[in-house]
Amino acid sequence: MTTYTFTNQKGGVGKSTTAINFAGSLAHDLGRRVLFVDADPQGTALDWSAARSAAEHPHLFTVVGYPRVGLHKELAAMAAGYDDVVIDNPARATDIPRSNLLAADVVVVPLQPSPADLWATADVLTLLSEASAFKENLKIVFLVSRRGVGTNLGKSIKTSLAGLPYPVLDTTIANRVGYAEALVDGSTVIEVDPEGQAADEIRN
Ligand SMILES: Nc1ncnc2c1ncn2[C@@H]1O[C@H](COP(=O)(O)OP(=O)(O)OP(=O)(O)O)[C@@H](O)[C@H]1O
Ligand SMILES: [Mg+2]
Repeated sequence: MTTYTFTNQKGGVGKSTTAINFAGSLAHDLGRRVLFVDADPQGTALDWSAARSAAEHPHLFTVVGYPRVGLHKELAAMAAGYDDVVIDNPARATDIPRSNLLAADVVVVPLQPSPADLWATADVLTLLSEASAFKENLKIVFLVSRRGVGTNLGKSIKTSLAGLPYPVLDTTIANRVGYAEALVDGSTVIEVDPEGQAADEIRN
């Protein structure tokens, strides 16, 4: 079992969107039994799941709400019978993301390729270094999300990304209307257009 946590204190960077689509890919393409933990009091993934129920679309994975501290102590029991766990975290919080880092094997930090997002990484970098001190095997990656379609990353953004103390995935997630549309319908980009570019990004 692998536990993935999607985290970044910066809001609106695509944590929920990438986490839901990633979980969908694990279930849809790889046949994994996925438990999705919505740790954000905002409840984006729970809303998505409710939209899916309303559309009478069979569920790809189970979504549970856990918007509080303590998942690292309870997850083993909660995840019995599942192959993988995907956790979505709130922005502008510290205690919940910290607790979830302790529960995780892999940390994905989505960030938009903008100076404001790069400057705002200071908060998450502090959390990540604290967590790695506890957990030597914690695997941490940054994921560029909401990249302008048809644009390359600018030189100064690339230099800043290269300066991060953790690897940045080669795959980037573009800003595509299909991501927002799929979520509204309680769907995923892979289900909507399995051959599309968004589906490729998520699989990669
Ligand atoms: N790759 C994308 N392409 C187009 N729209 C996107 C993409 N990723 C996210 N969005 C849109 O941007 C907004 C914020 O995305 P999302 O909710 O996934 O971010 P978040 O980091 O989870 O936000 P929060 O910090 O509020 O939890 C949403 O309206 C979503 O539909
Ligand atoms: Mg979110």
